[in-house]
Amino acid sequence: MIVIEPSILSADMTCLGEQVRQVQAAGGTVIQVDVMDGQFVPNLSFGPGVVRALRPLADMQLDVHLMIVQPERFLEQFVQAGADRLIVHQETCPQLGNTLQRIRALGVEAGVSLNPDTPAETLTEVLELADLIQVMTVQPGFGGQAFLSDQLPKIRQLRTMLEQRGLTIPIAVDGGIDIHTTPLAVAAGASVLVAGSSVFNKKGSIEENFAALRASVGR
Ligand code: DX5
Repeated sequence: MIVIEPSILSADMTCLGEQVRQVQAAGGTVIQVDVMDGQFVPNLSFGPGVVRALRPLADMQLDVHLMIVQPERFLEQFVQAGADRLIVHQETCPQLGNTLQRIRALGVEAGVSLNPDTPAETLTEVLELADLIQVMTVQPGFGGQAFLSDQLPKIRQLRTMLEQRGLTIPIAVDGGIDIHTTPLAVAAGASVLVAGSSVFNKKGSIEENFAALRASVGR
């Protein structure tokens, strides 16, 4: 099952709630909230308040992508705000296994994301503790960047690592996902496609953009 997961960084902030409703109306089942601290990534974005505001608006899964240093400081706040899955970065968690276990202990799913320069091998010891692996196909921080196709082998490598362990957790790809790159990511083994500017843009409606992405994976 291929999942298109709009990330709200590129949404129209003047009507964010309506845009999220449109995602659900278009068939969306999950959205990703890009949390940025201006330190791990060169941009500032949202806090728990945005998750709290969105929670009652849509019967969708809320993934929170924590592009922040020391994410352990905010796990409880985002869960209390309504997050269904917390995705931390391998690069910001010196005790990644413990962090993933803490997230699960809070009753939500635990995801781990890898920046383009971070090898798949860094997850060897924690694969069983994760519910999702997210491969960044841009340097995180801003929407609208070009897809880094040199990350495709990493996706294939992670899929192989999971299969060798008998694990079926999904691999997400985040960054530069559009109708042209989606098939490449799926062919490499991804099943969750995080898309920002290809969903939220002036070229088409959310419904049109979402439908085009779904059509691009043929399912
Ligand atoms: C890092 C964010 C991405 C971003 C994707 O920049 O984590 O989710 O919003 O935006 P696009 O799809 O425009 O590359």
